[in-house]
Amino acid sequence: MSARDWNPEIGRDIVRAHKKLDGALLPILHALQEHFGYVDAASVPVIADELNLSRAEVHGVITFYHDFRDHAPGRHVVKICRAEACQSMNGRATEAHAKQRLNADFHETSADGRYTLEPVYCLGNCACAPSAMIDGKLHGRVTPKRLDQLIDALESR
Ligand code: FES
Repeated sequence: MSARDWNPEIGRDIVRAHKKLDGALLPILHALQEHFGYVDAASVPVIADELNLSRAEVHGVITFYHDFRDHAPGRHVVKICRAEACQSMNGRATEAHAKQRLNADFHETSADGRYTLEPVYCLGNCACAPSAMIDGKLHGRVTPKRLDQLIDALESR
């Protein structure tokens, strides 16, 4: 995962490329996050202008969905599932361990910029709970020990 600085020209091009789609707002937000690694606050007036929405409407959708982040992520993005099946398989222990190991709370990036920790609510991997996604790759049965192994593997990168 690599983040890019916000660029108004590219941002507007992305918005325009998707604005004709049905329910264009979500595809636009996903495309912006895909390109920049996050949805910059500066994109809100651009989207509002292109889609003829109020800034509050755009902002409301961004904050409603947990998927969208408002700041550039760290080099690695670690998502821990907090939905019911994972919680019932001791996902809370994995969650607490992730916060300690990465030295970041949910929605935060570690001070060294290496890790961003995010909650997710079901990764469709309930049979192998607790689940995590690291840099877009799904992992099952992520105990604290397994999480350590996965993070250890990232340390050299
Ligand atoms: S509840 Fe965690 S993967 Fe479904």
